[in-house]
Amino acid sequence: MIITKDLTKTFKRRISRKEGKFEKITAVDHIDLTIKKGEIFGLIGPNGAGKTTTLKILSALITPDIGTATIDGYDVVKCADIVKNKVGLLSGEFARSLYWRLTGKQNIEFFAKLKNMWKPNERINELLELFALKQWENEHIMKYSTGMKHKLAFAIGLLNDPPVLFLDEPLTGIDPITAYELKQIIKTGFKEKTIIWASHNLYEIEEMCDRIALINYGKIVLEGEPEKLKKNYWDHTKILVISDKPHAFTSLQNMEIKGDTVEIKTDNVKKTFLEIMELTKNKNVEIKEIKTLKPSLEEIFIDGVKNV
Ligand SMILES: Nc1ncnc2c1ncn2[C@@H]1O[C@H](COP(=O)(O)OP(=O)(O)OP(=O)(O)O)[C@@H](O)[C@H]1O
Ligand SMILES: [Mg+2]
Repeated sequence: MIITKDLTKTFKRRISRKEGKFEKITAVDHIDLTIKKGEIFGLIGPNGAGKTTTLKILSALITPDIGTATIDGYDVVKCADIVKNKVGLLSGEFARSLYWRLTGKQNIEFFAKLKNMWKPNERINELLELFALKQWENEHIMKYSTGMKHKLAFAIGLLNDPPVLFLDEPLTGIDPITAYELKQIIKTGFKEKTIIWASHNLYEIEEMCDRIALINYGKIVLEGEPEKLKKNYWDHTKILVISDKPHAFTSLQNMEIKGDTVEIKTDNVKKTFLEIMELTKNKNVEIKEIKTLKPSLEEIFIDGVKNV
């Protein structure tokens, strides 16, 4: 559904007004991606990594310098108008372009007119219902909470029911209840849609996405299913033992002492647990805490960003 080849975008940024000096920033650096129909693809990466620029190119809002991108076979440069009809770019920031003096319904009607929609009332009602805004439709959005404005912005982005959605930090700045509502709507109502979800929030990415890519300085550093990425990162389990006498455990294999914590890498959790218990027997060793650890996306993210 979405294919990019060698996609590259460079910006010029003025670094000295006096001397008229510019620096070149490669915001998107030779990106190759293939995203299947119906997939939710997570794009993670630190600030300035190139997530929003990638989504803007794929939405036919800015053009790449090198490379190509197609949406459902349509080139984002050559067929920009078709692409614009197929994609919806939803970002939390869009809530700022709402008209404060209009009601919720007037706002959505205004954007339906801009999109030249014919008889949009049925769709508007459907969206207001979907986002639980129907009972507030005649209130001025000045009175809306941030979450309600966010949902209205989402409803507007979905007016023409695009098959491809780009969600740029879709849950940033909203409360957990609104975030939960939006996630439920996306999980249940958007099954047919192909989605790219850009975010810093690794928990929401892991919960929502089938596959993810880590982007840093415009380059894809890692790509794959979250579970597989974690398995490839380290496939063993770590057992952490916090004890008053960490040196009582030095006979264990693959152990490391860090302060009062003993970190043991193991492929057989049960066996290692029994060994730990055995070592504490009749030796007056106190275990304050014991827990197992599996790799998290956070560690993979931090490592992936560090190693570039
Ligand atoms: N219009 C522009 N002119 C100049 N530089 C730009 C422009 N748009 C983006 N950039 C630069 O390109 C790089 C990538 O920016 P982008 O907004 O795509 O990152 P991002 O991953 O979305 O970051 P964030 O997580 O902060 O939203 C940054 O260094 C940014 O400053
Ligand atoms: Mg961004």
